[in-house]
Amino acid sequence: MKALILVGGFGTRLRPLTLSVPKPLVEFANKPMILHQIEALKAIGVSEVVLAINYQPEVMMTFLKEFETKVGIKITCSQETEPLGTAGPLALARDKLIDDSGEPFFVLNSDVISEYPFKQMIEFHKSHGGEASIMVTKVDEPSKYGVVVMEESTGKVQKFVEKPKLFVGNKINAGIYLLNPSVLDRIELRPTSIEKEVFPNIAAENKLFAMVLPGFWMDIGQPRDYITGLRLYLDSLRKNSSSKLARGSNVVGNVLVDETAKIGEGCLIGPDVAIGPGCVVESGVRLSRCTVMRGVRIKKHACISGSIIGWHSTVGQWARVENMTILGEDVHVSDEIYSNGGVVLPHKEIKSSILKPEIVM
Ligand code: GDD
Ligand code: MG
Repeated sequence: MKALILVGGFGTRLRPLTLSVPKPLVEFANKPMILHQIEALKAIGVSEVVLAINYQPEVMMTFLKEFETKVGIKITCSQETEPLGTAGPLALARDKLIDDSGEPFFVLNSDVISEYPFKQMIEFHKSHGGEASIMVTKVDEPSKYGVVVMEESTGKVQKFVEKPKLFVGNKINAGIYLLNPSVLDRIELRPTSIEKEVFPNIAAENKLFAMVLPGFWMDIGQPRDYITGLRLYLDSLRKNSSSKLARGSNVVGNVLVDETAKIGEGCLIGPDVAIGPGCVVESGVRLSRCTVMRGVRIKKHACISGSIIGWHSTVGQWARVENMTILGEDVHVSDEIYSNGGVVLPHKEIKSSILKPEIVM
């Protein structure tokens, strides 16, 4: 079986992190977002993943070639010369997706995180006999997603409305599809949207079916959702493979610590924290609901909550970093500084406090 991952877009909503690496390579729970997906695809027997890329393909491919052998899956690239939206890339990769088997293939948005119930999806797809299956999930704020209205008993999609202004329903497109090769006949090679132009047409012919995704789901393409997504992911890790989580008297709730990170005396870490490789957390530090990326140093008695600390940054002693503060790569926060929601671009030094949410360039 094959799969295509949509890895275009500039990831603007996840700046300043995406100023350093393309969004799919930003670590989530100590692993590049896209690797969560590739590993899950490999686990159910997908043999080739096609990355539909329109931005920085070299960076992505150099990185992923390393994982081809590690994960044991073929990774190829289908490069656009102009952004083709969410459907155009499928037409471009047509020859890579179709083979003699006539099997359906997976399509994934690159920024969605879940337990990826691909096996159940294949069963569902076989059972309804339609042309396309999509995963849906319930959310509180459906207007920022594609909303799906479906027949409860069969899953038949009656309506697909992308980012509706008026309330249509609270089940939304989770960005995980299983499509028959015939769907490719519906897509022209031009910038086009699968949500606006393809799914509504398949639904009108009663050939689009939706399955409610079991377990958690999150689009982690923006900081607030990224932080919420980490909580949901770690909850699920607790249920399914709790041995991966940190233990000890200084740990509260679910915490993931890379084995190469060093944690000092008298720290209190958690809940919902991920600490990446090579990090040094000095004594007396308090961390909760945050991600600390590779190579970060957090000095004595600093306190970080609800924030993301980018690669190789440092946070000074007694500093307080909170309320959706996002530090880009290589940012240095001086001792005793307070950051309330600062969004700080890479390579900056922060010498005075950031008292209200703002971008520091
Ligand atoms: N190759 C390529 N080319 N990929 C693209 C392009 C492009 O021109 N534009 C967007 N993508 C990729 C993005 O990288 C992402 O993986 C996916 O397509 C969806 O784009 P987003 O920008 O993340 O869309 P969204 O989050 O606003 O909405 C989409 O996802 C929701 C679920 O998270 C839609 O599919 C919604 O219907 C859905 O509910
Ligand atoms: Mg998205």
